[in-house]
Amino acid sequence: MKTALILGATGQVGQSLLAQALASLKISRVVAPTRRPLPTHTKLDNPVVDFEALPADARWWKADFVCCALGTTLRQAKSRAGFYRVDHDYVLAAAQCAREAGTPVFGLVSSLGASPTSRVFYLRVKGETERDLGALNFPSLTLIRPALLIGGPRSQNRPLESFGLFLGKHLSSLLPRRYHAVSTQSVARSLMGACLEPETGIRIIESELIRD
Ligand SMILES: NC(=O)c1ccc[n+]([C@@H]2O[C@H](COP(=O)([O-])OP(=O)(O)OC[C@H]3O[C@@H](n4cnc5c(N)ncnc54)[C@H](OP(=O)(O)O)[C@@H]3O)[C@@H](O)[C@H]2O)c1
Repeated sequence: MKTALILGATGQVGQSLLAQALASLKISRVVAPTRRPLPTHTKLDNPVVDFEALPADARWWKADFVCCALGTTLRQAKSRAGFYRVDHDYVLAAAQCAREAGTPVFGLVSSLGASPTSRVFYLRVKGETERDLGALNFPSLTLIRPALLIGGPRSQNRPLESFGLFLGKHLSSLLPRRYHAVSTQSVARSLMGACLEPETGIRIIESELIRD
């Protein structure tokens, strides 16, 4: 039986990760540090933390694996620096705490097109986060790169995403499978499956390989 550490458990993908971990017979304990408290569950430890000052010495950083679905939007973050702080710095800071505590496996929800050399700021940040996570030398690192997400309800209105989903729904048969929208549940299932059966080294799961 394993211990799972989930980052971003209040978000769309994070909620799916949390529900799947709590339901899994392979997982006996789930740790989900969040800035807002989660509903209680007998399997769940939910430390409420400030990601600007993570408690590096907390014992709960030691788990069998981490699944990370932390992230914000430029709209929410209000600046490129604010976006970078969450999507890069918070992810790296948490990963470092887990690595130093001896957690051997890390899985990140990244994005289709992530690349440190992308001209698109969002994709460049995702690529830099992937690259810098690689430098932490987790024995097993999985980077999942979904296309547009469909799934749980959004608390914030995201017009660009809605437009993308509209296009995705109506034009998906014309697009290569890599560009089809994928469900938050499928992303969570694929990432958690990879973390439960870790491979040594860096594994990249492109969007067309995300299981339904
Ligand atoms: N949406 C898409 O179509 C899409 C496509 C490809 C990849 N992705 C990537 O997939 C990942 C997950 O996406 P999602 O749609 O599940 O995101 P989401 O619903 O916005 O959830 C993001 C999570 O990050 C947390 N978070 C954000 N800012 C924070 C802060 N300042 N301090 C602490 N926690 C913070 C949120 O906590 P709170 O609930 O407290 O805000 C939430 O738990 C993201 O990295 C995103 O870039 C998204």
